[in-house]
Amino acid sequence: MFQSLLDRFQWKGTDHLYSLPWLRNLLEYSADPDRVKEYLKGGNFTRSQLTRDMLSRFHLSHDSIVVSDDGHAQFLRSIFLQCVPAQERYPDIAKKLVDEVFMTGNSRELRLSSSLIPAVYLSMSSNLLGANVLESLREHIREIDFQPGTRPMHLDGVMYALGMQFPSFGPMRKIIDLIFFKSDHYTRKITVKLEKMMFEFATPKEGSWYAHLIELKQSGKISRAQFRGELTSILVSSYVLSAAMSSMLLCLAARPEYVDKIRDDETMAKHFVNEVLRLFPPFRQFGYEEKGIWEKSGRSKEEVTDFMVSVFGLHRNENVWEDPDDFRPQRFAAANSTKGCKFMPFGLGKRSCTGRVYSIGMLVEVLKYVCSEECNLHLTLPEDYVKDYVGLPLGTNGRLVSFPVDDRIYARRELIEKAIAV
Ligand code: HEM
Repeated sequence: MFQSLLDRFQWKGTDHLYSLPWLRNLLEYSADPDRVKEYLKGGNFTRSQLTRDMLSRFHLSHDSIVVSDDGHAQFLRSIFLQCVPAQERYPDIAKKLVDEVFMTGNSRELRLSSSLIPAVYLSMSSNLLGANVLESLREHIREIDFQPGTRPMHLDGVMYALGMQFPSFGPMRKIIDLIFFKSDHYTRKITVKLEKMMFEFATPKEGSWYAHLIELKQSGKISRAQFRGELTSILVSSYVLSAAMSSMLLCLAARPEYVDKIRDDETMAKHFVNEVLRLFPPFRQFGYEEKGIWEKSGRSKEEVTDFMVSVFGLHRNENVWEDPDDFRPQRFAAANSTKGCKFMPFGLGKRSCTGRVYSIGMLVEVLKYVCSEECNLHLTLPEDYVKDYVGLPLGTNGRLVSFPVDDRIYARRELIEKAIAV
């Protein structure tokens, strides 16, 4: 009985309508590009409460850009986008990031997620937030044991549904979290500490996002909680970008023949990144709801309030992609390859990802540098590495931000080894 109830929330990436007998709300879950297109057509949608709820566990402020309403997000987006570094700087930022991750030259096994998250966080604090970070904060970030992942998505769905029907479920959820999902709690603790340290050990660069945020706070345009929420946004985004980077480096280790192809043809790096984001989208699913639905009264039982897009299902839908499980970057050479709501790792519409251009730029530049003769980095997977049947990394199951299940990699860097020998 209990299992059959839970099964309704086993989101498998096919088209389903979910409901429980006592629920007023239905949840539609789709991996069909035509249905996604139809839903998004009118433009009368916004980020759903379910998605915001899940994101707000990382974000201390419900008013941070990711969790807030459309008006506030729009106001912050325009300022943020003016502060994103110029594209000419991307190669240099990427080079520093790779050097930070693969600092030692000896052949060694790395856990990609735990080495990438601090490096990406430092890089984003400095370049995207625009903070000069002092050594104490740098040391602290390097020492943090980042644990990617939170509770499974379908469990989130059940808890959300219960919370929606029974407001008193809130405190119960907190207790469940504390007992079973300590890492969520841990992530929040890290965030609080980082925010405090940011105050103490970082100064804003001129014209940066950080400088603007301080100005907005001082002039009372955003609250202290909102300000803190924006710092946390950078942390969460670092998680997401690290997840994409670790999938990308693992795919390169699994398909070393692409090193030469990327050296010979720059567009191959872009196709490679797209193929990684198709097979391993860091946000496996996210949801929308009709605007103003919460203000409307008298909803009928049949009314669908949440529309979840299974990005994972969409990207592996065999009606849309030829041999969807194969790793084939060349498929993105076709002019219409990303059209028609079949490829959406960064979402769609007014609330789509503000970090899209920066993230793609960074992934492409990191890949190009890792493949370059100058970097001379050799990546291999350990022999007992867990792969799927086509020999690619396995993705995590149904987490908010998915890192590969097995993120170990061997890294060897000839140049640095030679330098050490000299
Ligand atoms: C590969 C890396 C990344 C992926 C796959 C990704 C994906 C996403 C997705 C799927 C959304 C929700 C879109 C929707 O609801 O339609 C989102 C929102 C957002 N992302 Fe990213 N993201 C990435 C990196 C970043 C970075 C580096 C930043 C930098 C700050 C960032 C900032 C944001 C913000 C601020 C939002 C909320 C926008 C709004 O609500 O208006 N993301 N991202």
